[in-house]
Amino acid sequence: MGQGWAFCLVLVLAAAGLPGGYGAITDKPGFGYRLADLSTASNGAITSTMSNNELVTNIQELGPDLSSLSLTVQPVTSQILRIKIGDAQAPRWEVPRWLLEGSLANGTAPQNNQAYIFNYTGFPFNFQVLRNGASNTTAPLFDTGSEPDTLVFKDQYLSISTVLPENATLYGLGEQTRTTGLRLPRGGDTITLWDRDINAGTTNTNLYGSQPFYIDVRADGTAHGVLLLNSNAMDIVLTATGLTYKVIGGVLDFYFFMGPTPAAVMDQYTSFIGRPAMPPYWSLGFHQSKYGYKNLAEVEAVVANYSAANIPLQTIWIDIEHMDKWKAFTLDPVNYPPAQFKAWVDRLHANGQKWVPILDPGMSVEPGYVPTEEGIADDIFLRDLTGGLYLGQVWPGAVHFPDFMNPKTSDWWARQISRFHNVSGFDGLWIDMNEASNFCSGEVCRLPASGNWTQYAGVEPWRCFLDCQLDQALAPQVNASVAKLLFPPYPVNNGATGQPLFTKSAGASSTHYDGTTEYDAHNLYGIAMAHATRSALMQLQPSARPFILTRSTFPGSGHWAASHWSGDNLATWDNLRYSIVSNINTGLFGFSMPGADICGFIGNTTEQLCNRWISAGAFYPLSRDHSDIHATVDQELYRWESVAEAGRSALALRYRMLSYIYTAHADSSAFGCPVMRPLFFSFPSDNNTYAVEEQWLLGDGVLVSPVLYENATNVTAYFPQGVWYDLFNTSSRIDATSGGMNVTLDAPLGQVPVHVMGGTIMPLQEAAMLTEDTRKSNISLLVALPYLSTQPGGSGGGGASSIGKRHRLLLQATSTTTGSTAATSGGASGTTGSEAGGVGGATGSGAAGAAAVSPSAQPGASAMAPSPASASATAPAGTAAPPSLQRCGA
Ligand code: NOJ
Repeated sequence: MGQGWAFCLVLVLAAAGLPGGYGAITDKPGFGYRLADLSTASNGAITSTMSNNELVTNIQELGPDLSSLSLTVQPVTSQILRIKIGDAQAPRWEVPRWLLEGSLANGTAPQNNQAYIFNYTGFPFNFQVLRNGASNTTAPLFDTGSEPDTLVFKDQYLSISTVLPENATLYGLGEQTRTTGLRLPRGGDTITLWDRDINAGTTNTNLYGSQPFYIDVRADGTAHGVLLLNSNAMDIVLTATGLTYKVIGGVLDFYFFMGPTPAAVMDQYTSFIGRPAMPPYWSLGFHQSKYGYKNLAEVEAVVANYSAANIPLQTIWIDIEHMDKWKAFTLDPVNYPPAQFKAWVDRLHANGQKWVPILDPGMSVEPGYVPTEEGIADDIFLRDLTGGLYLGQVWPGAVHFPDFMNPKTSDWWARQISRFHNVSGFDGLWIDMNEASNFCSGEVCRLPASGNWTQYAGVEPWRCFLDCQLDQALAPQVNASVAKLLFPPYPVNNGATGQPLFTKSAGASSTHYDGTTEYDAHNLYGIAMAHATRSALMQLQPSARPFILTRSTFPGSGHWAASHWSGDNLATWDNLRYSIVSNINTGLFGFSMPGADICGFIGNTTEQLCNRWISAGAFYPLSRDHSDIHATVDQELYRWESVAEAGRSALALRYRMLSYIYTAHADSSAFGCPVMRPLFFSFPSDNNTYAVEEQWLLGDGVLVSPVLYENATNVTAYFPQGVWYDLFNTSSRIDATSGGMNVTLDAPLGQVPVHVMGGTIMPLQEAAMLTEDTRKSNISLLVALPYLSTQPGGSGGGGASSIGKRHRLLLQATSTTTGSTAATSGGASGTTGSEAGGVGGATGSGAAGAAAVSPSAQPGASAMAPSPASASATAPAGTAAPPSLQRCGA
């Protein structure tokens, strides 16, 4: 950083007279945008225009620079700062705010406690965001540098860079399956954002969703988040010294979430994009799915086989086979006959189980197909550049794509969903192919003259049968305003090879009801569909909490759909490992319920892989086994006895912990903390946690350390400072009381190390075949003490504070005991909690002071207290008032 900046920091603070101030930094000679007409409002907001008469850039081939920009600096809250740069002369495309439930766009910030400082140079315009109160030797959080040309703003190329210190560890930005692990790579890597249907085994390239959000953790453990709220295609280049955005439309609309802990970042971030949806309790059970269940009899057999094998199955999923010729909202008259279907669903429900169908957006053009006929009447489909309805091809053959940005579409969609619910009684919806995926590539596609629609349905569906234009050769035939959408001057690195934007999706020139193009809104297709689907389910059953799984995502999607899975992974050991990073990232993107296809989707799994995968996947928030139609090895857990046994064991622990997991979801939906957390989230001041990517925390206090390598029988796991009790055997514990440590643990096939952190009080219930039965069972409390009385400072509660934060009150109450203790509840009365509301209620009452150790608690542990801890949870008389509970245990 040049001296001019440092000097001006002082000047800013003095001039503004505010703890978190704003102000100009000395101009620097050079070329760039020049600020003018700067005005500062009483809340500190700045508006200004910038002109670039003096600007000379070396990238003229990307088009002329905009001559006049607008700058808005808006203190959204004292912890959230918005910096927006747009065109001063004409409105440009922006992400519609109704997609973000938690929008705080009109928030006001108190003047006196802003956590940020905004500094700028007037010419050439550059800015910094600093943490208020940080020493002036601390690197800025965001720093567009002091050089000209940092900011480039053309119609179809917007670029801005930040300098980043070496000690910044970055997480997020997606969606990708990354071979580089959890931390974002900084070796010149480009992360492209443009939603794309490609199997998730394709690494280091853009996948189904677009998430322009990252968390930056500095070496001192402080964290902040940065969102670029922009839905256009973009490349983000990460290097050792910084990060550059290269965006091909819209505006530069940045939001800075000041943290300073990762938990606070997620709280602030989800207060803006929308809190993660709270899923229904039943969805926490185990799910079985397969693309390729041929008929209802096969589905019934799978359900029965789970029961016979004594493996809990809560939900059976049916993929596109249930449809009549792959048309959404229909049932196949032969294989899933409507007359028998409802009776089957009734039986399933009577058994306490659920079913979830897949639902794709592409609506068949088959004459007489009611959803399409009604959609045409309501005029809710995307149009192509000729003004006709855009024609694509998906499973049912030729289709039109609903325009979910159109308010009218929601009503039409709700109607179709309600009608289908009447005949099928589904319990949740799985919205797939919503990138929107298309087997054809082109701006304008038509049925070939020689064919009719039926010949395209379900036949080699990956091959495009439509006649599609445009390819590069036809480009000169369209007018300039369309051509620029098809072949933007800066081609993002779509598919790692710069594929055209219209590749296997609706054309970039397709238009929405209000003229918005897919060029601008493509990355919003999935979130808009999730929005409409949630609204339809809420109308259908206002008292039931919706369960929606979505493939394509954008910031805010997690509010409309509780769940996102990592897509079409491969049945390989690598993909088992990738699933952890993908799921953790999904949590950081604002979803409470990430998952990955257990045992792998594409290709044939193996007994050992499936065994290890269910041992790990039993502790994903969404625990679902799913496989591809082309896999010849069936992978339901009961197919191998060893896998069945691994499943029974891991799922039994999951079910016993359901109230705990449900509470983690409640915290997530209240405060944004992921249910499946990276270790750095809870231990940001322990730098060793930053690289941990083969373990995760489930909720506040459970650490999962699965075996992820073929033939391995042990796992080396990192334990942050604390006492960690093996949840499968609480007499075994890791004492990491004087700092974090790596420990190698035995984990023969069928076993997975799962530990609970000292300081956690966990309700445990009985493992049952149904979530509902677990919910009604007795609650026992596992009280995991945060320190050992033999440890220095460990007696009397005094030494506990540095280790256990969440439950210090109870630590004090139990300070004379050692080890972990368990006490049973008074009975089933504690299993309250409303399915529709009442989040967290399931961890409620019924805990007081029973003397017997629960049969479901780990028996006979030598470290157990001689008598169970009193669960009265009150501090002994005379002790200081307990500290308030920390949000998300962090
Ligand atoms: C793609 C999805 O990712 C996959 O899970 C599903 O089985 C297929 N579509 C078929 O519907």
